[in-house]
Order: sequence, then structure tokens, then C-alpha cells
Amino acid sequence: MATVADEPKEAAERFVPLPRRLTDSQLDSIRALPAHDRAPTPTTEASRPAEVYTDPTRFAAEMAHIFRKVAVPITPSCRLPEPGTLFADDSFGVPVLLTRDRAGKVRAFYNICLHRGSKVVDGCDPVKAGRVSCPYHAWTYGLDGQLVGIPRAETFPSADKAALGLMPMPVHETAGYIWVGLEKGREAPLPPGTDRLDADLCALGLREMHVYGQRHYDLASNWKLVVEPFLEAYHVQRLHAKTVAGLNADVNPVMVWLGEHLRQTAGKIQFVPGEEELNSDRLHRTITHSYFVFPNTIIVTSPYFISSMILMPRAVDRTIVQYTMLMPQPIRSERGEDLFRRSYAFQDEIFSEDFGAGVMQQQALSCGALETVRYGGMEAPIGPFHDLVERYLP
Ligand code: FES
Ligand SMILES: [Fe+2]
Repeated sequence: MATVADEPKEAAERFVPLPRRLTDSQLDSIRALPAHDRAPTPTTEASRPAEVYTDPTRFAAEMAHIFRKVAVPITPSCRLPEPGTLFADDSFGVPVLLTRDRAGKVRAFYNICLHRGSKVVDGCDPVKAGRVSCPYHAWTYGLDGQLVGIPRAETFPSADKAALGLMPMPVHETAGYIWVGLEKGREAPLPPGTDRLDADLCALGLREMHVYGQRHYDLASNWKLVVEPFLEAYHVQRLHAKTVAGLNADVNPVMVWLGEHLRQTAGKIQFVPGEEELNSDRLHRTITHSYFVFPNTIIVTSPYFISSMILMPRAVDRTIVQYTMLMPQPIRSERGEDLFRRSYAFQDEIFSEDFGAGVMQQQALSCGALETVRYGGMEAPIGPFHDLVERYLP
């Protein structure tokens, strides 16, 4: 479940992440929220063998049958906002080059030079460029992947430039994200429900947002342990006792599965049914929307920004998290810059508590002494999350 930062009071008038109208389904979720003191006691329990987090064979199966089969988000779209831009990312352990061509179409390629296999682009910051040259011997490619230049081409008399373009990867752009397929030569469908997710996230303005900042966390924990704190409200009053516990009530959010994705709608501590300002710039002062995007992405709204976390599993006990803070408009003043600097630091503090819990679990579970982990009523989506993962496995 979402954990949200408080915000300095001056923020709300100028930074508003709700440029559009919420969907009817989003509004229904808000209207379904009871007053905190009338929230029912959730009692659905579930459990799993601890080895789902520690067994390398299980991890290999998840990679082969989930992360290499379906399309996975690799970046918020707005990180590649303009035609004629590109950036590289190898956080999944696969060197990926993303480009947006002059017509605005996004393409994904293996970031591998067809000459002798160097990465064509090193580093990951987006740049504006009409073409890219491999740093080693300067073979040059267009944003459409075509090989357009070979220095001393006469020394490669057999080279067929048309056949030596960058190797394409399956790519989709929807729901405010660029999604790629990580398995060479295989189509990568979007998970079921992505059209509904797209409607939700468009309503929150995700597609038109701007990047304030991005950082990566390299965590010694299984990817599912990184997901789970965002699927439960139970920990908020405990793990976050010193940060955001006071902003949130000790109750479950309203949960709606959008196919394989999950929307959670929560009332903050001051939420009173009927008094929320629907479709107003002020809505996220009292309501938190959070999403689990199958299989690997978390989105959490705050009053004037949105946090995006893409989880990139690297080993059974290692996950890289790409955290991006998205804002509805570029910062125009020192005051705004100061506000976002503080919020960015505070998000780091909060999410580091969540990530730290997963690292502690991994350390403890790895010894094998505990055979079963248990999820209670305030952790209700965790069981269905595991069901979903297991449906993909042979
Ligand atoms: S490896 Fe890229 S130009 Fe040689
Ligand atoms: Fe949390």
C-alpha cells in the first residue's frame, strides 16, 4: 500500500498532478472508501514456502516464464519526451538502447554494435541526437537502427549495411511507460488489463509528466520482497512509525484488480467520506492512489508528484530499483526547486525503510530455518500476487 510524504504547505497551489478527469472506476473506488472508524476488519490469510524467495531454481523459472515472456516497463515515457532523443539502460542485465525518432515513434534495440559487440552508447542519461556512433571504431547508426556509416568501409568489402542494423527488441508505449521484451526473437505481449491501467494512469496525467530526478537502488533482496510492502497496509504504522505513519490510517485501501495490475485507493488520515474533492487539484491531499503494474512496477501518488519504481531482478537475492520522481510541470522557481529537493530526499528516506525490510527478510530467510511465511488480512493482495506469479510458471 502507498506510503506518502507530507508536503510543505506552499506546494499545492502550483504543483498539481491531476490535469484530467478521473475514470468512473477510479471515482467508484474513492466512493467505496469507508470512514476509517467504519473500515471492516480484513481476515483473509495466505502463506507461502519461504523458498519462493530464496531458491535459485525458482528465480530462474520466474525470469524465463515471466520477465522474458511478457513486456516489462523499462522507463516512464516522459524520460524520452522529445523526438530525436535516446538513452541506454542495462539495469535488467540486458543492454537496451531506446530511441524516439523524428516522428515520435519509440524503438528499442539491443545496445550492441554489429561490428565487434561493444555497447554503442555508454551511460544512461537521455541525450538529443540524430544518430549514434560506437565509441570503439565509430560504426554509426540512425535512430531507426539502420547502419549508416562504416569508417574505412573499403576494408569490409563483404559488409551489407542493410543487414547490419541494430537488433530490434519488441517495444510498446502505453500507460505512461515504455515496455520492452527481453527475450531475443520472441514477441512480448502486454499483461492483460494494460488497457484499463492506461485509462487510469492517463487520468492521473502520467504520460505528460516531467522527470524531477532518478536514482537507482541496488538491493540484496528478492524482487518479490521489494514488491510486497507496496501490496499491504499492515507495515505502515509499524515500519514507518517515524516517517509517514501519522499521515495514514491503519486500514486497508480499496483494491481493484485491472487484469493483472492492481489499483489501491487509500484515504489519508484526514479523509472523511463525501468531503474529498473529486477531480480537483487537491484530491491527492486526502486520497492516495497506488498501482502495482505486473510484474515489476510500483506507482504512488503524492499531492504534487508521482513516484515510479521499476524493479529489475538480477539474481534470486538481488534487485535493482529505478526510482523516478515525476512532476506535472517543470520547476520554475527556486522555491519550487527547494520544495522538490526536500521531497526527493524524504521519499528516499521512506522507501529506504521499505527496501530495508526486504533486505532484512532476505538475510533471515536465506538460512532456511523458517519454512513458511504468513500474510494476514491487512496484507490481502500478497496471496493473489503470488497466485499470479505462479500461474506463469510451469
Ligand atoms: S565494436 Fe563498434 S565499431 Fe567496432
Ligand atoms: Fe511502505
